Amino acid sequence: MKQLIIFASGAGSNAARIIEHFQQNQKAQIALIVCNKPGAGVINIAEKANIPVLMIEKEPFFRGDGYVPQLQQYNPSLIVLAGFLWKIPNSIIQAFRGRIVNIHPALLPNYGGKGMYGKHVHEAVVAAGETKSGITIHYVDEHYDHGDTIFQTTCPVLPGDTADTLAQRIHQLEHQHFPVVIDSLI
Ligand code: GAR
Repeated sequence: MKQLIIFASGAGSNAARIIEHFQQNQKAQIALIVCNKPGAGVINIAEKANIPVLMIEKEPFFRGDGYVPQLQQYNPSLIVLAGFLWKIPNSIIQAFRGRIVNIHPALLPNYGGKGMYGKHVHEAVVAAGETKSGITIHYVDEHYDHGDTIFQTTCPVLPGDTADTLAQRIHQLEHQHFPVVIDSLI
């Protein structure tokens, strides 16, 4: 069976959907969750699903081996970033080139880059008066939010939307599409 590794450091709602998807169709299994934030919601989700969690720290991640040997042990077909906010170091990019995908909660190349994550993205989209937003699933390279796009889809930004209401609509889109797109890649 194919092995997937998920990097996540937030609530983990996308990770939960991906786990459920592959519990049902058995094409792949989530071998490991990688997390940099003690107490993050995703840790509970992993424990309930009996998936091991690797808690990582800044120093070895950015200036050491990037945990590459531990990740290689699982021989992952794909590394999936689902709400992971640290930049991926070159050590990991080089070891798993073309096998790392990220989801971004806007229509890249707009509203991407350093500091553009989670709620900050939706605040910027609403403040700019955009009438549509969406999600981008893309390969990860050495630059933030930059690699080749795999999938994009849009949703409206409605009059009266706040960052929170827009975030909910975007989360629905992510949950609907991310597991299916990952499935199609493996
Ligand atoms: C998701 O909306 C994801 O697109 C975003 O973080 C959220 C995580 O939610 N990622 C980024 O902003 C990356 N730049 P979750 O923890 O409930 O899956």
